Amino acid sequence: GNRTFTMIKPDAVANGHIGGILNMINEAGFRIVAMKMTQLSAAKAGEFYAVHKERPFYGELVEFMSSGHIVAAILEKDNAVEAFRKLIGATNPANAEEGTIRKKYAESIGRNAVHGSDSDENAQIEGDFFFSGLEKF
Ligand code: GTP
Ligand code: MG
Repeated sequence: GNRTFTMIKPDAVANGHIGGILNMINEAGFRIVAMKMTQLSAAKAGEFYAVHKERPFYGELVEFMSSGHIVAAILEKDNAVEAFRKLIGATNPANAEEGTIRKKYAESIGRNAVHGSDSDENAQIEGDFFFSGLEKF
């Protein structure tokens, strides 16, 4: 697949890192197909992360993801899902490699600056969650 979906999470937005993160995304060769800033309700955040609802951190995750503005975007590049997960780095910034977005901007495993889809199927579902057909050309 050539598309993935990302969110700049509330920690990174609040800390003024939208520009720095978008710059890293551009420098890595992704085209921004669609982008918007919004705030998720707890219900919407819960729906987005429903796959994690049995995990012990689910409540904390939903509370955090609905705590402030996020920037949602659809990105295009060859092999986009894998390429983008490589750019963002490990979920826990303590394990993230030098040169990754999470190494530079994440505060902790919970407040980890960015989301990246984990499969082509989820990239499609997550992009559709935020954007209408007219917005993603
Ligand atoms: P996403 O791109 O956000 O989906 O991250 P990921 O694919 O690297 O990790 P995963 O899908 O397994 O977990 C989703 C999100 O849940 C992570 O990005 C973290 O923000 C959060 N999370 C995962 N594990 C923990 C944890 O142990 N504690 C807390 N507080 N949050 C966690
Ligand atoms: Mg994930």
